[in-house]
Amino acid sequence: MSTGKRVLLIIAGGIAAYKALDIIRRGRERGLAFRVILTKGGAEFVTPLSVASLAGDKVYSELFSLTDEAEMGHIRLVREADLVLVAPATADIIGKMAHGLADDLATTALLANDRPVLIAPSMNAVMWAHPAVQANVATLRARGVHIVGPGAGDLACGEIGDGRLAEPLDIVAAALRLLAPGPLTGLKALVTSGPTYEAIDPVRFIGNRSSGKQGHAIAAALAAAGAETTLITGPTALPDPAGCHVRHIESAAEMLAQTLEQLPADILVAAAAVSDWRPASQAGQKMKKRENDAPTRLDLTTNPDILATVAAPGPKRPKLVIGFAAETEKVVEHATAKRRKKQCDWILANDVSPETGTFGGADNKVYFIDAAGAEEWPLLSKTELAQRLVARIVAEIKKATP
Ligand code: CTP
Repeated sequence: MSTGKRVLLIIAGGIAAYKALDIIRRGRERGLAFRVILTKGGAEFVTPLSVASLAGDKVYSELFSLTDEAEMGHIRLVREADLVLVAPATADIIGKMAHGLADDLATTALLANDRPVLIAPSMNAVMWAHPAVQANVATLRARGVHIVGPGAGDLACGEIGDGRLAEPLDIVAAALRLLAPGPLTGLKALVTSGPTYEAIDPVRFIGNRSSGKQGHAIAAALAAAGAETTLITGPTALPDPAGCHVRHIESAAEMLAQTLEQLPADILVAAAAVSDWRPASQAGQKMKKRENDAPTRLDLTTNPDILATVAAPGPKRPKLVIGFAAETEKVVEHATAKRRKKQCDWILANDVSPETGTFGGADNKVYFIDAAGAEEWPLLSKTELAQRLVARIVAEIKKATP
């Protein structure tokens, strides 16, 4: 059984390179075709002959091999793939990808690539935890690179910890997920999430208790449904969700600027708990509490409304604009009025009274409100709610484009 999908597998020079052979075997069993670039380092761990035998194709390795360039330039190598998979992805190749370096066939192909990329990191646990590696991984994630693993366990170096290559079957499953188009493939979605921080001075801010869990779950669900998803998030303790482009911002003004920069888009979900106000002016230095220097009052000014700005009629208005309404009383009544005022298509209204535990909690209970009225949804985990919302979005998009 062939899926008709082609994977360009880049095997970098790590001790787990031998597992790439199993990835090829398992992948071919599941209908994937492989073309392989073996880096110089990778060839220290596995032989081109064993890779070629399993892949059923010749192995590519030298950038400056004229015969290879004549037969198959590095650009064609990536153009003919549906997915680029880097496994194992070493600290070195991750660093080169993050910084756009191209000094061999693998890194040159990666730079010339416009296909989805999946990396399966594998390295020593201390290397994986190093801030330099983590920063590079964050850069790649923000660019939309997909990451599978690493897992925890015994490492080849004899240590125990995070850094173990994901299991070959899990890597193949991640690749297949990316290759199977979802119901929202071809559409662009934006999600705002988390709180905003409004600076008072360089060390103090006005913020709120939003955890970002709901917005992040929605972004992940949209990406899983195939939408090209950008998450614009205020400061949260959450990792960046898989498969999304992520923009980290602090203030409402930055959130608005990033959101506008991402337009046009097909779908906007405004899940952020945007601060309604910000200090009218920001002190350049830390405010001192010494007598006379201390502010006795803080002048505030109103923040721009991101949802209302994007939902206003205009050529760049997304087809579907969805807001949230955080209320503590008369939830449906207030949220219905908010939907009209902000001109969004749907609003998800939740009761954020402290006793509900919604802010920061794992569950959420909402009323789904559209032009037809309000519908009560059951208590759901934030992940389930995200999936239910995305299913509704898919149904709506299908209705609009039968
Ligand atoms: N929102 C926004 N920009 C703002 C304020 C809110 O985009 N400056 C969005 C939120 O992301 C949410 C919706 O508007 O989708 C409603 O947010 P909410 O806090 O419930 O309403 P407010 O507009 O702040 O109104 P109020 O505080 O009066 O209830």
